[in-house]
Amino acid sequence: MDSRGRSCPLTYRYQPEALAQPAQLEVDTLYVVGGLYGNPAALAAVLERAHQEPGPAAIVFNGDFHWLDVDPDDFRSVSETVLTHHATKGNVEAEVACEDETAGCGCAYPDYISDDVVDRSNQIMTQLRATAGQFPDLVGRLGELPRHLTASVAGERVGIVHGDPESLAGWRLALEAMEPGDPAVRRRAGWYGQPTTPTELRDWFARANVRVFASTHTGLPYAQVVPDGRGDRLVVNNGAAGLGNFVGTGHGVTTRLSSDPRPPADSLYGATVGALRCDAVALRFDLGRWKRRFLAQWPPGSPGHRSYFTRLTGGTHLRLPQAARAGVRLTVTSERP
Ligand SMILES: [Fe+2]
Repeated sequence: MDSRGRSCPLTYRYQPEALAQPAQLEVDTLYVVGGLYGNPAALAAVLERAHQEPGPAAIVFNGDFHWLDVDPDDFRSVSETVLTHHATKGNVEAEVACEDETAGCGCAYPDYISDDVVDRSNQIMTQLRATAGQFPDLVGRLGELPRHLTASVAGERVGIVHGDPESLAGWRLALEAMEPGDPAVRRRAGWYGQPTTPTELRDWFARANVRVFASTHTGLPYAQVVPDGRGDRLVVNNGAAGLGNFVGTGHGVTTRLSSDPRPPADSLYGATVGALRCDAVALRFDLGRWKRRFLAQWPPGSPGHRSYFTRLTGGTHLRLPQAARAGVRLTVTSERP
């Protein structure tokens, strides 16, 4: 059986203690931007959004900023722009920079994700590798990116990962894995995996010595407060910055962490933990521009089109209230394209 796209390479593994390092970045406001997926319109929008902040702001691209950008100009421009900011690698960058192709797309897809999806992701990765091969210097820099990053925002420590606190491509912080489980979310995901309990989360938070885990890899956004005797903690997953996330929407989602206690006007939902305000922020980019770039690279019938075009134009099945989990308040009341 072809295991490409299913396995988790050993180089992806780390321990939560790896995040218990001195913060590599201290800032008043931080955007965590995961899953840009090669969308140049979303990249322009997030730069503009961060630029509008009244105080010092930084961006961490926490992986999979490449994916659908198989056009050489798009690939080069996304790489060059992202690499002027803080960045960690996702499975896409790890596999683009790795000469061993046995991990396929590196997604470590669990059994409940269908073979068709995995096969198409492997095909996308093959095309992306061919493009990346034209830019050995950039690929070398992608390969040198860290697998995680610890930031300090409002004096609170934030552990930024791509997957989960044990693996670059881990699925333990997927919305469908989180307890208490949402039956509707699990049914739509076809989920039958290992649940992630509050006890496990508290253990990870203690070992990583962080207030917040910010993740992205698994594609559906949510935030959830985890009560802890030492003070509430927060798990936040931004889903995708470069693709639609909620039913009937095409905008991306990013995670905004700030010392300013007020939710921003474009907040979808959020919470305050310790001195830190955390919001899922709608990233409204030029959807027409993105569609044109996407279709130029992934025409109907291509693996990219079959896997992603529906999401590009109409988001996912997820509704906002399903993303604002325990301890998190909705700041808007309805999905808006
Ligand atoms: Fe990923």
